[in-house]
Amino acid sequence: MDRNGTPQLGRLQQLVPSISGFFTKLPLEKAFYIEDERRSISVRRLVAPSFNDIRLILNTAQALALAQSSTPLKLVTFDGDVTLYEDGKSLAQDAKVVPRLINLLSKDIIVGVVTAAGYNEPSGDKYYARLKGLIDAIVNDTNLTKTQKENFTVMGGESNYLFRYDDNKQGLLWVDPKEWLLETMASWDETDILNTLDLAQSTLKGLQKSLNLPAYVIRKHRGVGLVPNEGIKLSREQLEEVVLSTQKRLEISQSAQRIKFCAFDGGADVWVDIASKDLGVESLQRYFGNIKPNQTLHIGDQFSSVGSNDFKARLAGCTVWIANPEETVQVLDDLDKYMIEEEAFR
Ligand code: IMP
Ligand code: MG
Repeated sequence: MDRNGTPQLGRLQQLVPSISGFFTKLPLEKAFYIEDERRSISVRRLVAPSFNDIRLILNTAQALALAQSSTPLKLVTFDGDVTLYEDGKSLAQDAKVVPRLINLLSKDIIVGVVTAAGYNEPSGDKYYARLKGLIDAIVNDTNLTKTQKENFTVMGGESNYLFRYDDNKQGLLWVDPKEWLLETMASWDETDILNTLDLAQSTLKGLQKSLNLPAYVIRKHRGVGLVPNEGIKLSREQLEEVVLSTQKRLEISQSAQRIKFCAFDGGADVWVDIASKDLGVESLQRYFGNIKPNQTLHIGDQFSSVGSNDFKARLAGCTVWIANPEETVQVLDDLDKYMIEEEAFR
């Protein structure tokens, strides 16, 4: 149906309307046997296969497919919060994921952090603060070449600020948008961007008042957030109400329709950002010489179909949906193992 240009008539799409395109085949049977061994799914008598069982089978199938593909994996992008480090925390030097990221770089794979966290500061200091453990490890590594080290990038604010590791600076260097900004984004009218941010700001302020939330609204260069007061945790229902109402309000704005925005529930806060992670991943693909979606993997925690920000990355490449930083480590170990096995059979 895809090939005929009528993907909406496919059986899978009819059963799961929110399904996206597939860039690789998925060896689901093999992946099931692997996960069954780990999770004893078929041995269970009283608990049916769960959402998490299926999520992990799909992740394993995706890792297998990328390792087995004749077109090598070239770009792996990571969400920040919950994927690389705990929500709101930073990447520590002794984090288990750090040597795994260095391992990807050593295989000439480009590593990008594609995060919503938006800091409009050319110094890159705030991103350094959050990724210090990894950046220091890259600086001190004696096995990686200069090129491999400079294959580390950070795309902040969904798709608004690009930084690249620079060997001379031994840190992150701001990359001029002229070098990477996609034409679609370059063509957006600044007035539409500002109108969308204004509307997001007034909508979030209105919801804070009407729902009587102990929270405040922050306006940034390319995003607006509703953040809880110090020491307060907003409930899932409060966050969802805010994200769904804001999304609905923005959808009917002419200005917002002319650009792309992303409204999401960050687990503790709600944000509306200009642009989205598909554009962030696509910008990296273009910047590094037109890497294809089937050579790209994005790993993140936010893949539910509404109010999530990694969800859009599905448009630009293959994806893996993790639930915590430990699962990210597991997926990277699996991927590494499958790539080594595949190499041995070539
Ligand atoms: P991610 O998981 O790396 O995409 O980061 C999402 C989290 O970053 C949000 O839940 C916020 O807590 C935080 N954040 C900080 N600044 C921004 C911003 O400008 N836009 C969106 N999220 C932000
Ligand atoms: Mg996240």
